[in-house]
Amino acid sequence: MSLRTLFDDKTVADMMTSWPTQPAIHDLPAGSCLPGIVNAPLLNAYLESGTAPVDNIILIKGGAALHPRAYTTAGDLDPGKITKWRGRGYTVQLRNLNRWQPALHTVCAAIQQQTGYGCYATGFITPAGAQGLGCHWDQNMGFIYQIAGRKSWQIWEPVVDQPHRDHLACNTAPCSSLLNRLKTTLPDEEFDLQPGQVLVLPRGYAHNVHARAQQHDSVHLTFVVRERTGFWIGEKLTAAATASTEFRRAIPPAHLADRGAFAEHVDQARKNLIDWLAQADEQALAAHLIDAARTERDVDYL
Ligand SMILES: [Fe+2]
Repeated sequence: MSLRTLFDDKTVADMMTSWPTQPAIHDLPAGSCLPGIVNAPLLNAYLESGTAPVDNIILIKGGAALHPRAYTTAGDLDPGKITKWRGRGYTVQLRNLNRWQPALHTVCAAIQQQTGYGCYATGFITPAGAQGLGCHWDQNMGFIYQIAGRKSWQIWEPVVDQPHRDHLACNTAPCSSLLNRLKTTLPDEEFDLQPGQVLVLPRGYAHNVHARAQQHDSVHLTFVVRERTGFWIGEKLTAAATASTEFRRAIPPAHLADRGAFAEHVDQARKNLIDWLAQADEQALAAHLIDAARTERDVDYL
């Protein structure tokens, strides 16, 4: 389990001390348990039996998602409708597989325990000749395991530095216009990911991913790994520092209408923050935060 599920010992050792900042392709290590845990027959069986949780299934083509009513009946996944849309070139995204596939939960939890980074897994099944998501970049590290078929990847160097949570997202201005400009240039890298390969894709690298030239369906699994940063520490410290009663007292409306009076509240809040932060025991905080990093279930902190 853990990163050893995806990478050989040397790669894992390197990652632990020097987290990757460049895309790289690796082979799944010999003896990895991953093919026994998640494979194309299993993912197809979830769809053909209708046993996948409907809230975690998305059908998408050329960057546009269907309304769930198009592939459900009475609120349940409808296998016949799913098959129809797949025949029309729709990619099926199986989200948060680690929340409903126990063995994948174990892998993701082990990666989090090992790295301190939250981790979840999403499957993609793209029909031959089709494309699901449009060109974009992500706010997190991706480990992409190609399960079956091949996927064509076009990758561009980052155009923004350290995209993070809703900061510098590719689908909002001004980054969306940057992305549009990028799409008119040739990619910096272009390759087909083969079955058994694992692509390391650091956040920020724009990518256009498709199976338009493929003869067979492409199935891959993305492990989304959300790195801890100083932002995460800052948020935790701020939450702890503002937990006292002092921060919960109401500010009179008249003071909110008076910049001078309100500035005194700002000054007082700043003093309270500084006092708390100056007296906080960094060793105790570090122990608490390491424990939280390794175990907290909500990995959507980015
Ligand atoms: Fe992506």
